[in-house]
Amino acid sequence: MNQAFTQSSQHNSLGKVTTHRLTGQVLSLETDNGKAEITVFNPGVFRIRIVKDAFTEDFSYAVTGKPEKCEMNLAETNDKLVLSTGKLKLEINRNPARFTFYTSDGRLINSDDKAFGTSWIGTEVTTYKKLQEGERFIGLGEKTGNLDRRGSAYDNWNTDNPRYGPNDDPLYVTIPFYIGLHSGLAYGIFMDNTHRSRFNFGASNDRFSSFSADDGEMDYYFIHDDKVAGILSDYTLLTGRMTMPPLWALGYQQCRWSYFPDSEVLNVVRNFRDRKIPLDVIYLDIHYMDAYKIFTWHPTRFSNPAKLISDLKSLGVHTTVIVDPGIKVEKGYEAYEDGLKKDMFIKYPDGQVYTAQVWPGWCHFPDFTKPAAREWWGDKFSGLVADGVDGFWNDMNEIASWGGGTTPHMVQLDWEGKHAAYRQAKNVYGMEMARSTYEGARKLMNNQRPLILTRAGYAGLQRYTALWTGDNQASEEHMMLGARLLNSLGLSGVSFTGVDVGGFSKDATPSLFARWIGIGAFSPFFRSHTHYDTKSAEPWTYGETVENISRNYIQLRYKLMPYIYAAFHESVETGMPVNRSLAIDYTFDEKIYNYIYQNQYLFGPSILVAPTESTRDLVKVYLPAGEWYNFHTGIKLQGNSEITTECPVHILPLFIKAGAVIPMQKAVQSTSESPGDVLYLHLFSGNESSEFVYYEDDGNSYNYEKGAFYKRSITFDPVKRHLKILAKEGSFPGRFKKAQLLLHGFPEGLKFKLNNGALAFEGSEIDLFNALVTNDPQYLETKHSKLEVLIAEINLVDDEITLSW
Ligand code: GLC
Repeated sequence: MNQAFTQSSQHNSLGKVTTHRLTGQVLSLETDNGKAEITVFNPGVFRIRIVKDAFTEDFSYAVTGKPEKCEMNLAETNDKLVLSTGKLKLEINRNPARFTFYTSDGRLINSDDKAFGTSWIGTEVTTYKKLQEGERFIGLGEKTGNLDRRGSAYDNWNTDNPRYGPNDDPLYVTIPFYIGLHSGLAYGIFMDNTHRSRFNFGASNDRFSSFSADDGEMDYYFIHDDKVAGILSDYTLLTGRMTMPPLWALGYQQCRWSYFPDSEVLNVVRNFRDRKIPLDVIYLDIHYMDAYKIFTWHPTRFSNPAKLISDLKSLGVHTTVIVDPGIKVEKGYEAYEDGLKKDMFIKYPDGQVYTAQVWPGWCHFPDFTKPAAREWWGDKFSGLVADGVDGFWNDMNEIASWGGGTTPHMVQLDWEGKHAAYRQAKNVYGMEMARSTYEGARKLMNNQRPLILTRAGYAGLQRYTALWTGDNQASEEHMMLGARLLNSLGLSGVSFTGVDVGGFSKDATPSLFARWIGIGAFSPFFRSHTHYDTKSAEPWTYGETVENISRNYIQLRYKLMPYIYAAFHESVETGMPVNRSLAIDYTFDEKIYNYIYQNQYLFGPSILVAPTESTRDLVKVYLPAGEWYNFHTGIKLQGNSEITTECPVHILPLFIKAGAVIPMQKAVQSTSESPGDVLYLHLFSGNESSEFVYYEDDGNSYNYEKGAFYKRSITFDPVKRHLKILAKEGSFPGRFKKAQLLLHGFPEGLKFKLNNGALAFEGSEIDLFNALVTNDPQYLETKHSKLEVLIAEINLVDDEITLSW
């Protein structure tokens, strides 16, 4: 067999189990052709490591979670070993060694391909999994293509792909984690291997799905839970969760390549203020630097940065600057001289420092896999921090360089003292840069939260940074792709994500920009950005109508801030993303995978967004199970239905889940402006009960980690007929003293009681769209039905509050 093949192309699989040993929660196997080690991480998570020869030191940049002690059992028969917990059962066939996962009650979740299992061709290691009937695949991070990835294959190799097309692969980020779905069952597979890797979900074959890496161990985590949300929670237990971003980073952010000089930056910001378009952040792209040298300011364009930044701050605007890893080779330039002296740069195996060209010309690159270099880089932010900069935008960290970013594979990295070639390190370089920036800024900023943004990353990046999807294009297709990219990132542990609103390359049409601002307002990271050779792209540059539409959606974003902040807190606590593909809550509803509905998502727990091209007046939307309220008209609709809805450019199709509690505040020009002391609590009546965890903290320090937060559960129970605002938890006093309750969809004539005393509710006709979005009469050309909404104001005392009817 295989006579005609050379040694390096010969296919070899694990072979027969020869010995096995259970030590604590680790089952070790030796086989004819290799070794395996299975660790029960927790009842629903098993880690599988497989090697040909010997295991290398156990180390991961992605995984920070530790195994948890749990009940487990090993049963042995002549042909099988069965490892089980209360949640998951792994059956290991002894000859040949093949793995099959079952639920604890014996339903088949996932099995190795009988013939191939885990096998090698040369150093390339692959695990083959039998394709299950009707199996779908979702996730895998920043990947183009459909929500259901069945029939497609992907490559993980962090790549600067300027102006990427809507089907290009790979892009900037590697997250080798996906979720498989079939027969009402869900599982996750995370292959923790940083080498170039490939995932095949039944592309060019009808037999298997597979994941493979160019070299290294097969090291994968198998996760099972009844719900996709549970799988995400386990995945983020392994790879970590985000910390609370600064509140201001959730506001609207304006960027272009590049705003300069300083007077122009101020001019843009003043324009926002004059036009009453809310704004929280302005960006300085590469032209702020002197000859693109990191940690410098251009001497004439930005002659007094501290003054500029403080002027911006007094206008309520924070400043974020771009930082690229390339450090210009130039005698006398501090970062270069110091880095060279302290041995901070990546090198060829012969010790020569690696040099490639980027914006500044020939550059060296810090070795972010070296702890001392991470600290060195982190400390270098002291000047920028002293100037008042509090946002740091990490770019070009794939590593991008002229000549296609083809850094030679043999270039050496420290890899925490264990040493690795670029071939193994490329996919983590960007994440470690963002980590170093985050750790440095956090240390320097005196307990204030920095905004960290990155383009490249690896699994676990959410611990350090937000992510944007790089150089997109001003097209309808890209706008729709953007929604899928963010939804997919959300399915891969990364919640704080955004796209270049308006499109990076090319000029957006006015209607495209207007629609994109609407969609952007319903994305976690909300920033407009554009290339240096496009037209001016601030909201007012597209004419008055677009300016009004932009103001309305940006303002709506600020009104929704209490809801949005709570959604971020949920990501911090459980790993649940802010942008939630419908595959999270409606996993086995086939309709959601339909080409025309696959971009839809929930923004936070209960607002359904249907991203729609700006060229349409009508669009089909799928409302999944339950009842929904049209956000604009307030009309209640039955779920499990495909509807046609109006979507002229000022109306982004939005729906609210019945039973939802949506806390809102008054419109402000930035998060630094007080929203007053009234919280607007909208309750949308429905048949199903719900719980919303309301959350506040000071919005800018890490004191919340020590208990300085204000948290209370708000529960709606239509059967017991009450809304309860549970007693406050945490030591932060909370911003709002009063709450205005706005009850939607309740029948007339109900009597409401507050804490058993009588409470009068006024019925009031409100124009919902007017109440929620805008009261700009100029803008309200469309008809909106007037709705009867019940309104009462209550004191938001810290004890439990019960409203019953
Ligand atoms: C890269 C970034 C882009 C930035 C440009 C100049 O293309 O992706 O956002 O504007 O570099 O720094």
